[in-house]
Amino acid sequence: MRRPFVRRSVSRFMPGEHLGDALSAAQALKPEGIATILTHLGENLGRVEEAEEVARHYLEVLDRTAAAGLDAQISVKPTQLGLDHDPALCQRHVDRLIGQAELRNNFVWIDMESSPYVDRTLSIYRASRARSPRVGVALQAYLYRTEADLEGLIPLGAAIRLVKGAYLEPANVAYPRRADVDEQFYRLACRLLAAAHLPGSVTHIATHDSALIGRILGFIEEHRIPRSRYEFAMLYGIQRAQQRRLVSQGHPLRVLISYGEYWFPWYMRRLAERPANVWFVVKNMFG
Ligand code: FDA
Repeated sequence: MRRPFVRRSVSRFMPGEHLGDALSAAQALKPEGIATILTHLGENLGRVEEAEEVARHYLEVLDRTAAAGLDAQISVKPTQLGLDHDPALCQRHVDRLIGQAELRNNFVWIDMESSPYVDRTLSIYRASRARSPRVGVALQAYLYRTEADLEGLIPLGAAIRLVKGAYLEPANVAYPRRADVDEQFYRLACRLLAAAHLPGSVTHIATHDSALIGRILGFIEEHRIPRSRYEFAMLYGIQRAQQRRLVSQGHPLRVLISYGEYWFPWYMRRLAERPANVWFVVKNMFG
């Protein structure tokens, strides 16, 4: 981050490395009617003790967003809370965060990481959800298994963030063709919206894909799904025009703001999603 070209390229997607930077960005979005989700970058801890620091950090985030009067939820990666080392400890940390979210009238999202973590992540989610409605989980449309996972969760009145999926997965677990991922995303989004009246349901449609968003808006209109039953979710700095358009049409939108020193793997996934971003970095190297 000390190199100017890196700072210029990364700051397009990340307001800064510190919580204060993320809170300022969330404050700036508030007048536009855009709510936020904050995530402190990091995954696959080296030492299990680090999970305690991560959990404490998120407890502070919940306190500071409440003090700042922000509608800013948090999103955590299970491996950042010790899943690789000690799943029971990870569960306890997630539950601590949910307890604090209850006190602060807030909400905790659990990110979905690569496919070997799906079973363990869903079992943490199910256990937490049995205790509190203030927790949701991301499901990835690119995985073959997701339809069955979603059908298993819907009867719980589940809170689900539907995403395409950001990891490089083998063809035996995930659709290799983009068109198939998009189609599964559309079907699953409609399924979630149709079940969004169940008590406790929260549906996040997390994509920047304009074509997909257009189709999903068509479903929302056709079936008169109330706006209180879903939110669109996008990443900070991506598709700003589309973000403003959705809000101006009255659709709820949340932007996920990432911050922290450990931005490199996350940033590489953003570059991989869109080769044009690599040119953006190159231009900034010489700009
Ligand atoms: P797609 O990649 O097809 O992009 C559609 C269009 O959006 C592109 O054509 C481009 O215009 C624009 N766009 C997309 N990405 C861009 C980028 N990086 N830079 C510039 N433009 C871009 N994944 C995961 O595996 N687990 C998780 O828990 C989460 N959590 C999550 C939360 C939220 C709120 C969001 C928005 C996304 C995630 N993701 C995620 C990431 C997700 O799986 C996916 O990798 C990205 O959202 C990109 O996919 P799209 O659906 O936007 O479609």
